[in-house]
Amino acid sequence: MCGIIGFTGNIDAEKVVMEGLKELEYRGYDSAGIALIREDSDEPYIMKETGPVSELEKAVDKNMVSSFCGMGHTRWATHGGVTDINAHPHYVGKTVLIHNGIIENYQELINSYELRDKMISETDTEVAAHIINYYYEKTGDPLESIKKAVGVIKGSYSFCIMFSDIKGKIFSIRNVSPLVAASCEKGSLIASDVTALLKYSKKYFVLPEKVIAELTKDGIVLRTLEGKETEPEYLTVDWDMEAAQKSGYPHFMIKEINEQPEALERTIRPRIVNGKTDFSGDGIPDSIFKNCERISIIACGTASYAGTVGKSILEPMLKIPVNVYIASEYRYSDVITDEKTLCIVISQSGETVDTLEAMKLAASKKAVTLSIVNVKASTIARESDYVLYTHAGPEISVASTKAYTVQLAALYLIAAKMGEVRGCISEKEAEEFTASIGNVGKTVEEMLKYIPECKHISERMAKSRDAFYIGRGLDYAFSMEGALKLKEISYIHAEAMAAGELKHGTIALIEKDTPVVAIATQKNIFLKTISNVREVKARGAFVILICRDDETLSEDIYDICVKIPEMDDRFTGFAVAVLLQLIAYYTADGKGLNVDKPRNLAKSVTVE
Ligand code: M6R
Repeated sequence: MCGIIGFTGNIDAEKVVMEGLKELEYRGYDSAGIALIREDSDEPYIMKETGPVSELEKAVDKNMVSSFCGMGHTRWATHGGVTDINAHPHYVGKTVLIHNGIIENYQELINSYELRDKMISETDTEVAAHIINYYYEKTGDPLESIKKAVGVIKGSYSFCIMFSDIKGKIFSIRNVSPLVAASCEKGSLIASDVTALLKYSKKYFVLPEKVIAELTKDGIVLRTLEGKETEPEYLTVDWDMEAAQKSGYPHFMIKEINEQPEALERTIRPRIVNGKTDFSGDGIPDSIFKNCERISIIACGTASYAGTVGKSILEPMLKIPVNVYIASEYRYSDVITDEKTLCIVISQSGETVDTLEAMKLAASKKAVTLSIVNVKASTIARESDYVLYTHAGPEISVASTKAYTVQLAALYLIAAKMGEVRGCISEKEAEEFTASIGNVGKTVEEMLKYIPECKHISERMAKSRDAFYIGRGLDYAFSMEGALKLKEISYIHAEAMAAGELKHGTIALIEKDTPVVAIATQKNIFLKTISNVREVKARGAFVILICRDDETLSEDIYDICVKIPEMDDRFTGFAVAVLLQLIAYYTADGKGLNVDKPRNLAKSVTVE
C-alpha cells in the first residue's frame, strides 16, 4: 500500500519521480504528492493532490522548479481521510517525509512529544515527521535524528526523508514495508517496487531492515544504526520494461489474462525433469515433503483461494490434514503448529504483511515454511525456509489473474512431488499427474477463445446488483475466486456458496433474474450440483452454467451454458479460472469502470 520513489542525480528529478509514481500507482491511488529540493531556493517545492497521479502531474508547475533531487508518494489512505492535507509528503520544520506503512504507537508519540497542537493532518506519518525533525533540530545530524526517531517509532514503515538544508541527498530506512534501490550513471533511486527503477537499472538491491541508506548522485551508502557501513547484495531483474507496459491492450488485467499460457509454461516447465516433478533447481529437499504430518496453507485473498484449491488436491491425495488459513486470522488464533507442520505460504507480491507475520508466527512454532511467491527477493521469499517462485512476470492490475493460475500450478507440482515421495501415488500415477500439469498452459490457451461467450454473459451480469457463484468440492473453491474477481472490479455484490448450502439460508436472496454462476465440472458430484441449480432456477434465477463438454443437460435448467473441454476432473480449475476472469473483466469494462485500479483497493497490502 502506498508507493514511494526517490531520486537524486544529474537529470530532472521531477521527471524521474513522476515516471516512477506512474509505475507505482497500482499500490494506492487515493492521492499523490511530490517534494523537490530546489537548486535556487532553500524551500522545497511540494505539491499534493487527491486522486490519481495524473491530477498531480497537472498541478505541478514544471517551469517553477529546477531540481535534481526529489521524491514522490502515491497513497492508499490508512490514517485520515483522502484529503490534500493528509497526502504525503509531510513537511515539518526542515524535514520532508514520505511513508509507507503504519506507525502503531502514533497516539502515544503525540502525547509524549506534545504534538497535539502542532499536527495539521490526521496522519501517523506527520507524527514521524515531527519526531525526526525534533531530533534534527537538536542534533543537526540527519543520521542521528533518523536513528533516534526509529528508536521510538513502533510499526511498519519505509521512510524517504529529505532535509530542506541538505541539497542533493535522500535518506531512507525501512522496517517490514519494502524498499529497493539502485544507482546508475544518472544518479541514485529508491522505490517501493523495482518497476519504478527499471528504466534506469536492472541491477538493484533490497534495502535491509533498520539500515539507513544515504542517496547522493554518486551512489548509495548503507549504514547500520550503529554507524557501520555495509555492502548491498545486488540482484538482477529478469524481465524488461515491456512486461510492465500495457503493450497495446486497453488494460493490464486483460493483458495479464492473456499472458497466462506463457506464465504457466515458465512456472511449470523447468520443474518437470524426465517426466517427474523436480524441485532440485529450487533447492527444495524432498525431506520437507516426506517428514511433515500436516500442511497449513496461509495466504490472503486470491492467494488463499488458490490455497483452497490446493487443499482439495493435496488432502485426498496425501491423506494428511491440509488446512487453509486466512493470514490475518491465523495470526490471532492458536493453530496447532509444530516441527511436523509444513506451512505453505502463498503471496504474489511477497509483501502482504498479514501473510508475512503469520509465516513468522508459524516459523516461531518450528514449522517448515515453503513460500509460493511471484516477486523475486520479496520479504516473504527471503524469510521463508524455501521458496518456489512463480514466474508470472509483473502483475500490475490490482485484480490477480495470472498470479492465481501460476499459484495453482505450483500447488499441483507440490502435490505431484509429495504424492510420489510419500508413496501415496504410484510412480506411473505421479507421471500422469505431472504430464497433466504440463498441459495446463494449453488448456488456458484454448479457454482464451471463449471471449465472445464471456462478453455475452457480462452484458447480462452488468445489469445486476448481486450475483451468486455456486459449486461443490473443487468447483466451490473455484467459485470463491470467481466471486472475488467480479465484486472487486465491477462493484457487483458477489457471493460464493457451496451449492448444497444454499438452501440453509442464502437461497432466500434468489429472486427473478438474479444471476447464479453454477460451476459443475466435477463428475462425481455433477448431478448433486445440478439439483441445486434446479432449486435456484425454480426461484427465477438467471443461471449461467459452466460444465464439461460431455454432459447432456435439459435446456430448461440454464439460461446460458458454457462447456469446457473434456479433461481430468482435478484440472478443470485452470479452464474455469479463465472464464471467470473474462466474465469479471468484461462486466467491469462494460460498466466503464477503472478495471486496473478498482476503488478502495491497492495491489500490495502492506498494512494489517
Ligand atoms: O500479494 P498477495 O498475493 O499476498 O496478495 C494477497 C491479496 O491481497 C490478493 O490476492 C488480492 O486478493 C487480489 N489482488 C485480488 O484480486
